[in-house]
Amino acid sequence: MSPKIIDRLTIRRPDDWHLHLRDGAMLQGVLPESARHFGRAIIMPNLVPPVVTAAHAAAYRDRIMAALPDGMAFQPLMTLYLTEDTDPADVARAHADGIATAVKLYPAGATTNSASGVADFDKVRPVLETMAEIGMPLCVHGEVTDPDIDIFDREAAFIDKVLKPIRKKTPDLRVVMEHVTTQNAVDYVRDSSKNLAATITTHHLIINRNHILAGGIRPHYYCLPVAKREKHRVALVQAAISGDKRFFLGTDSAPHTDARKLQECGCAGVFSATNTMSCLAEVFDAARKLSQLEAFASLNGPAFYGLPASEDTITLVRGAPVDYPAHIDTGEGPVTLFNPGFPLHWHVET
Ligand code: DOR
Ligand code: ZN
Repeated sequence: MSPKIIDRLTIRRPDDWHLHLRDGAMLQGVLPESARHFGRAIIMPNLVPPVVTAAHAAAYRDRIMAALPDGMAFQPLMTLYLTEDTDPADVARAHADGIATAVKLYPAGATTNSASGVADFDKVRPVLETMAEIGMPLCVHGEVTDPDIDIFDREAAFIDKVLKPIRKKTPDLRVVMEHVTTQNAVDYVRDSSKNLAATITTHHLIINRNHILAGGIRPHYYCLPVAKREKHRVALVQAAISGDKRFFLGTDSAPHTDARKLQECGCAGVFSATNTMSCLAEVFDAARKLSQLEAFASLNGPAFYGLPASEDTITLVRGAPVDYPAHIDTGEGPVTLFNPGFPLHWHVET
């Protein structure tokens, strides 16, 4: 008997546990793209200047809510950008007052707007200890910045050189390894018994490094951490479709205008907010695991963050391929949408 073909799937409204919304005209342009399908999102703090204090986070949250079009519901879950000068008391206050959900660790120089990040991890010990006490998660950009370490090895090196020592010294700290790209990270998360989870992006489930570099260079696929070889992509898909509660969706949708992507030194970031749910349905369908899409996109994230799953639902429908625009227009200029390289038959019913 052939398996039953599913062409409709209703799931709890998904959340995005890693999202860049930027500010100003860009925020205005990209926010509806996320709010259309997602109920909540963890908002990255790497603005210029970064969102460092509780006061910054509250003001940024207000700007996001002011940019939300009438009739749309969306809850931004704010993060604080960890610096070597971050005050543990301010972090604890932001958490207690419901202003900040998590703290974001960027190793200094690892990626876009990370210059104010952490170089000396001992300097942030008091903050990490406070966070462990109050149960506030640390979202981690897991790449070393040592120029001697090959860019394709930087995530694996970070686990050994930075993350293991931090977690050993502060075992009660709850850590999210963001946008994991390697089998090493998947194994590390699977092998740890508590206080560790990982987000996986849409694009890392779909592209490997050949998509960026073979047959011509494709800047719109360039992001950090950079996509790795195929065996790593396969490991990410296996983790995402497994139902394992420690893996959940964080799109890392990171808009840059085409002008900033297509230059001598182009920015890192893939913008995928608009078609993420279509792409994910396609990936899970191809693996015959549509039944696990809800866990990955809507259940595992809230469970880790101690929040209720959404009471609302969305319905995905399979039909003729959907035509997404090649780019969306923002007040700052066009932003190219992630192209999965295959037709998208699934769309979210409106
Ligand atoms: O590709 C990326 N883009 N990776 C990051 O870590 C930052 C992000 C951005 O802000 O553009
Ligand atoms: Zn990011």
